[in-house]
Amino acid sequence: MFLQRFFSSFGENIAMDLGTANTLLYTKSAGIAVNEPSVVAMDVHKGTVLAVGRAAKDFLGRTPQRIRAIRPMKDGVIADFEVTREMIAFFVRKIIKGFRIIKPSMAICIPTGITQVEKRAVIESGMDAGAREVLLIEEPMAAAIGANLPVLEPQGNLVLDIGGGTSEVAVITLSAIAHYESVRVAGDVMDRAVQRYVRDVFRLEIGDNTAENVKKLIGCAIPMPDAPVIEVSGKDISLGTPKVIRLTEGHVREALKEPIQTIIDAIFRALEKTPPELAGDIYRNGMLIAGGGALIRGLDRRIAEVTKLNVVVDAEPLTTVLRGTARAMEDKERFGGVFIN
Ligand SMILES: Nc1ncnc2c1ncn2[C@@H]1O[C@H](COP(=O)(O)OP(=O)(O)O)[C@@H](O)[C@H]1O
Ligand SMILES: [Mg+2]
Repeated sequence: MFLQRFFSSFGENIAMDLGTANTLLYTKSAGIAVNEPSVVAMDVHKGTVLAVGRAAKDFLGRTPQRIRAIRPMKDGVIADFEVTREMIAFFVRKIIKGFRIIKPSMAICIPTGITQVEKRAVIESGMDAGAREVLLIEEPMAAAIGANLPVLEPQGNLVLDIGGGTSEVAVITLSAIAHYESVRVAGDVMDRAVQRYVRDVFRLEIGDNTAENVKKLIGCAIPMPDAPVIEVSGKDISLGTPKVIRLTEGHVREALKEPIQTIIDAIFRALEKTPPELAGDIYRNGMLIAGGGALIRGLDRRIAEVTKLNVVVDAEPLTTVLRGTARAMEDKERFGGVFIN
């Protein structure tokens, strides 16, 4: 039993969703072994890493001057190569303990718009972390595979992934992305929109994590009469003193209107550029939404209303991309063509 476990941990491959907000790692034996925020807390004087992942996220907005909480993938581009490398190494160490004779193969999912230089940096980070080879897959492709869409067929599939830093709309056919639109409007911008709304309407300043929690609790795209009213605390702008206000779903819906419209505009741009045969397929098959932003209440209905398409939210949108990356990695015979390197 022990020996069996010992040996099976040898050539085991790793799938990684390197998201702008969350990084997830999968191995066959452990399933989803890591699911943590893509955040690194650093001591800027010493240049050392203090915490990674969940522990580091608690630092956001609460750090003294010498400590900085960094989100290296924040806008869907790698803002800081060194920090990204440290973060990948930290998460991989959580699952590969000690020395391995047979190095793992690693499949890493990356945002669609990243540059060649950034791709190379991700590959090198994976190799430094102990991979024998690193295969890259793009986020909408991984989402489509995770949701079991027929990506290998000559058939148009429309996917929207709303993450933290970017929203990506892609038309996929025959193992490739035929067209994509990427906007830097996603969960983070929604959080900022909530902050701005609360500042303008209630003269209250709230932190990033508070704004995110408000969005998760009562964020919606259409009226939700049953949503609770929530108390939010922050700092009064004029007096500088702590203060509590009450927010309704109507407030948050108003705050989210603009970012949601930007995402809808990106969907229309993608549809406009889709060739007619593929458009016909999409009309029949509808559209898949994945990523944490898919959890905004009523977003699917709102998008269905304006596009007249059948819209489906993946059952577990926060893990769709990881599951797709894992599936492609485990069945390279079939899915080999979806990797971009
Ligand atoms: N229940 C929810 N309602 C609305 N937004 C959510 C919810 N849960 C998570 N999110 C948002 O989803 C985003 C993270 O999604 P994720 O797909 O993990 O992003 P990424 O792939 O960029 O790392 C964050 O902005 C987070 O606030
Ligand atoms: Mg993602």
